[in-house]
Amino acid sequence: MSHRPRILTGDTPSGRLHLGHWVGSLENRVNLQADYECFFLLANMHAFTTRAEQPADIRRDTLEIAKDWLAAGIDPERSTLVLQTEIPAIAELSWFFAMLLPFNRVMRNPTLKTEIELKDLGDHYSFGFPLYAVGQCADILAFRPELVPVGEDQVAHIEMCREVGRRFNWTYAGVSPQAKDEEHVAEGGVFPVPRALVGRVGRLTGTDGKNKMSKSLGNAIFLTDTAKEVKKKMGALYTGRQTMTEPGDVNNALFQYVRAFVKDPAKVAELEDRYSRGDNIGDGHVKVEVAAAIEELLAPMRERRAALEGEGGDRRVLEILRAHTVKANAVAEETLYAAKQAMKLDFGPRSLAFG
Ligand code: TRP
Repeated sequence: MSHRPRILTGDTPSGRLHLGHWVGSLENRVNLQADYECFFLLANMHAFTTRAEQPADIRRDTLEIAKDWLAAGIDPERSTLVLQTEIPAIAELSWFFAMLLPFNRVMRNPTLKTEIELKDLGDHYSFGFPLYAVGQCADILAFRPELVPVGEDQVAHIEMCREVGRRFNWTYAGVSPQAKDEEHVAEGGVFPVPRALVGRVGRLTGTDGKNKMSKSLGNAIFLTDTAKEVKKKMGALYTGRQTMTEPGDVNNALFQYVRAFVKDPAKVAELEDRYSRGDNIGDGHVKVEVAAAIEELLAPMRERRAALEGEGGDRRVLEILRAHTVKANAVAEETLYAAKQAMKLDFGPRSLAFG
């Protein structure tokens, strides 16, 4: 068991999860549980970087996202949920890593830049906002994972994490700058240089047919949506195609959904063939197929989710988080101690107590 290679990934709690999260990363996580030792991080500290005045909302969103994960098939018997604010090693490593990254390197991070634009943060964002990208390096490296399954938008962050890992190992652990990424641990490095693993659909278009699926743009199908809501949202997806006989573009948003959610490859091929020839097939027909496929995916999630609603559900989630915090800290503390030893900061071992 303990020889399974490790994974770490996570989400910033910002509301309910949607199909973009599923195809971008969540599906990967559920499947990888069989072969990897998985750590899934609830980045509740990061939620404060843009919503510091909303602690009650952040607490609610944190529990909601944990429920979405469990409903989607994250198995708390096999995988460890990591509640970021209860893992002190993450905050400590963030400080050390902040010294290994040039300030301007952080500020050039394209994911941060995009976020500043999308969230309209202008030049009034908190000091902690860009710091979260450094913190994310610590989230990851605290667990020394091999793989980080993420959506496409996170790849720039993982690249920065890889740079930090290498630089730490060169600076403090005697790893030669010529070492290949895969050789770092064998050469005595404290950290592996982890790789990003992007889901099968890096960027799912929303039901507006234009923008990336996102809660704030109002174009999302949530994992908790009912069959009726899914049908209605799919129905509103506009492709611009007018008749059932005009040749359709199978690269439009609707067909991204066909390929993402219709399971049977023969069915996908048939729909693509008929649509592209305009063989008496309307958008409505395709949408019905897609809605049915999405329903097949969501129905079991809805059922598992129902068991987690209400006060009893919150209690169950909090119980899991407390138990998993102990497991997560055991790993993160071991990493931190190794890092401090490498940095000549060994003033004796320590242990944390919870509860
Ligand atoms: N920044 C990620 C997001 O917004 C969440 C996150 C925080 C994360 N720490 C992480 C993802 C570490 C992967 C690994 O979705």
